[in-house]
Amino acid sequence: MTATPSVERSGTTVSDSDPFLVVEDLSVEFPTPDGPVRAVNGVSYTLELGKTLGIVGESGSGKSVSSMAVLGLHDPKRSTVAGSIRVGGQEIVGMAEPGMRKLRGNQVAMIFQDALAALHPFYRVGAQLAEAYLVHHPKASKRDARRRAIEMLDRVGIPQPDGRVDDFPHQFSGGMRQRAMIAMGLINDPSLLIADEPTTALDVTVQAQILDLLQDLQREFNSAVVIITHDLGVIAEMADDVLVMYAGRAVEYGATKQMLTRPAMPYTWGLLSSVPDVQADTDARLIPIPGNPPSLLDPPPGCSFNPRCAHRDKVPGDLCRTTLPELLPLAAGSKHLKRCHLADPEAVYQSEVLPEIAPDLVEEA
Ligand SMILES: Nc1ncnc2c1ncn2[C@@H]1O[C@H](COP(=O)(O)OP(=O)(O)O)[C@@H](O)[C@H]1O
Ligand code: SF4
Ligand SMILES: [Mg+2]
Repeated sequence: MTATPSVERSGTTVSDSDPFLVVEDLSVEFPTPDGPVRAVNGVSYTLELGKTLGIVGESGSGKSVSSMAVLGLHDPKRSTVAGSIRVGGQEIVGMAEPGMRKLRGNQVAMIFQDALAALHPFYRVGAQLAEAYLVHHPKASKRDARRRAIEMLDRVGIPQPDGRVDDFPHQFSGGMRQRAMIAMGLINDPSLLIADEPTTALDVTVQAQILDLLQDLQREFNSAVVIITHDLGVIAEMADDVLVMYAGRAVEYGATKQMLTRPAMPYTWGLLSSVPDVQADTDARLIPIPGNPPSLLDPPPGCSFNPRCAHRDKVPGDLCRTTLPELLPLAAGSKHLKRCHLADPEAVYQSEVLPEIAPDLVEEA
C-alpha cells in the first residue's frame, strides 16, 4: 500500500488510515523589517511508516522551513507557526522545548545538505555519535555508546569503523561525512527521518550510493522518510508520494507514479522539463522554467506561478491573475491534487508538453 495522500477540504484533512506524520494546514510566517514573510502557506500532507514522501520545488519554495517545523526548530520569538503537525499522534505545534528535545533525534531526525556544518569540527566523529546516543539513552555507559557509534558507522558503510571512529570530521571525505551524518540521524532508530537535500553537494556516484543507503536503512528500520530535493530524478527513485511546493504552497500532490506520468499543472511540467532523464528519453530537451519565483513579501495576486506560466491564456478571463486556485482532486475521489485553473490539464500535457520534453514517449503512444 502506498502512503495515503490526504484530501484537503477547507483546512481539514480526511484520510482513511492513521499515518505516523500528519501535517494539516501548516503555515510559517517570519516578521521582517520589510513586512511578514509567509514562507509556508496552508500545507497539508500525511506519511505512513515505511513510506517516503518527496518534497520538491525550486530554491525558496518553503521545503526546508516546512520540514524544520516538524522538528520544532522555529524559534517562537522569531516566527509564527500555525496549523497542526502530529508525529505519532503527538501535536508538535506549540509544544514546549523540553518535550520537543525529547522527540528530536529520538523519534524524529533530520539530515542536511551540509554535513560539515552539522558535525562539530573540533570533536571526533565517534564522540559526536556517542553523544547523540547518550542524550536519549542516559542509562547507557560510554562504552555502550561508543560501541553503538562504531556499529552505526559500519552500518552506513564507513570502512574500518573501529579505527575511523576516532577521526575528526575533516579527515573524512565529503561522502563519508554525509554517511556519518546519516549514522548520527539514525543512531536512536527514529521513526521519522527528514533528509533535506542530502546529496546535493556530492558528486553523482556518491549521490547514488547515499540514496541507496537511505533506502536500505529505511527498509531495515521501517521508518517514514521525507526527502527534500529540487531533483525529480531523486523523487522518481525514492518517493512513494510527491508534494510539489511553489512560493510556500502545495501546488500538486499525489502518488509518485501518477505525478510523473500524468503531472497536472504547469509548474510541475516545468520541473519535469528541466530533468529529462526522469522520462528516460534520449531526445528529451532540457527546458528551464523562465523567470524566478516571486518575492514572498509581495507575492502576485491570483496564482503565484502566473507571471511565469506559459499556459495561463488557456484559462478563461483573467482568472490566473486574479484568483488563487484551490488545491483540488483531479477528478472526484482522486488522491491526486492540483492547484491550477486549467480545465483539462491532461490534454494540454499530452498535446503540448510531452512532445517538447519526451518526443519518444509521444511516438510510442
Ligand atoms: N528566518 C527567516 N526569516 C525570513 N525569511 C525566511 C527565514 N527563513 C526562511 N525564510 C524565507 O522563506 C522562504 C522559504 O525558505 P526555505 O524553506 O529555506 O526554501 P527551500 O524550499 O529552498 O528549502 C525563502 O524565501 C526564505 O528566504
Ligand atoms: S492557474 Fe493559471 S497561471 Fe497558475 S499554473 Fe494554472 S494555468 Fe498557470
Ligand atoms: Mg532548503
